[in-house]
Amino acid sequence: MKKVGVAILGLGVVGGGTYKILTEHREFYRNTQNVDIEVICVLESNASRVEEVGVPKEIVASNVFEVVSNPDVNIVVECIGGISDAKGYVLDALNAGKTVVTSNKELFCKFSHELERAAKRTNVGLYFEASCVGGVPIIRTLLDGVQSNRISSIQGIINGTTNYILTRMAKDGMSYEDALAEAKKLGYAEADPSADVEGFDAAYKLSILSSLAFHTKVPFAKVFREGISGVTREDIANGSELGYTLKLLAVGKETDHGIEVRVHPTFVKKNHPLAGVDGSFNAVYLTGDSVGEVMLYGRGAGELPTGSAIVSDIIYAATHDGNRYSTFKNNATAEKDVRFVSDFESAYYLRLTVTDRAGALAKITALFAKNNISIVELLQKSCDEECATVVLVTHTTHEEAVKAAVSRIDSTELAKVESVIRVLS
Ligand code: HSE
Repeated sequence: MKKVGVAILGLGVVGGGTYKILTEHREFYRNTQNVDIEVICVLESNASRVEEVGVPKEIVASNVFEVVSNPDVNIVVECIGGISDAKGYVLDALNAGKTVVTSNKELFCKFSHELERAAKRTNVGLYFEASCVGGVPIIRTLLDGVQSNRISSIQGIINGTTNYILTRMAKDGMSYEDALAEAKKLGYAEADPSADVEGFDAAYKLSILSSLAFHTKVPFAKVFREGISGVTREDIANGSELGYTLKLLAVGKETDHGIEVRVHPTFVKKNHPLAGVDGSFNAVYLTGDSVGEVMLYGRGAGELPTGSAIVSDIIYAATHDGNRYSTFKNNATAEKDVRFVSDFESAYYLRLTVTDRAGALAKITALFAKNNISIVELLQKSCDEECATVVLVTHTTHEEAVKAAVSRIDSTELAKVESVIRVLS
């Protein structure tokens, strides 16, 4: 039986889950995959974490050189995260002729071109299923399941932490701070949770997924990004009253005007398949020209779901002779003829505080009309002696038109725009 030696760099949530799956399923993989996968060494400086995960001290390496120079190591799994140490270690492993499996979305998003070049040079594999949407096999689906299609759009809830926070705020009336603390405790959040709540994590993933879906490099810098840290329970409740659920949505589209990629809080109609994706669950909803609509749903974070994706990559690498690389033209930037859309189209929810004065609302709605924005719904939520809270939803319009209208409204003495949330149209 083929024997494959694995090294794990970093024993955090994901590295620990990977170790557990590999050791607990070793016999199962011998029987079902005809391969004996053994964890040969681990790189982790935190001794108590080593003990907690149950890794024998004898297999703990003291530096990366020890790992990559070990002839029994065939596959190096990078679970360190971030760029600083991880990039050098991954390049060391690839240059030493080791196949690499990584869960590092930031690293793959920003440096896949460098990593792929190194992997091709030494003729080893580079696998990254766990970098996007945890245990949901979206990379393999794009590479091996729907590659017969022209993909026109990807819509996804691809960050577990923010979905957990928004669900707890909407369903249990929890505060943003308490829900974030809970998500951290459950191991969903990144080491620095601002990567989650400010939308960076989802933007890295969207850059990778769109590059695969549209067969061209979609650089991170092209992804429009807005996080959830400004979201209020008031807006979530108003949206719910209007029939919407709030999600941090990632949208990638190939349009006649170019590629559109964006991550932002989005109101989704309650009967949309993505509206029911709650808690740390993630989902990706894609449209192909032959297959139509496909939705993948599952856990996007956590030790075992993400470990599941890593170990699936390890098994793939261990049982296939040829190496698999990403299918996009892997450059640092997009090719010259590829266009990107920044003035995208969407419907919008706006909450305004309006001075309670005769004609104030008429003046405000006139400013929307001036910017060619048509209103679908308008509710006056409350009114005291001085001002009223007004909530409205627009028809599909342009981002720039809404920005222009908001800036005109804010420059009047009559009203202030308190929040703007895009609505999936
Ligand atoms: N912090 C990420 C999330 C984990 O919440 O989805 C996996 O990328």
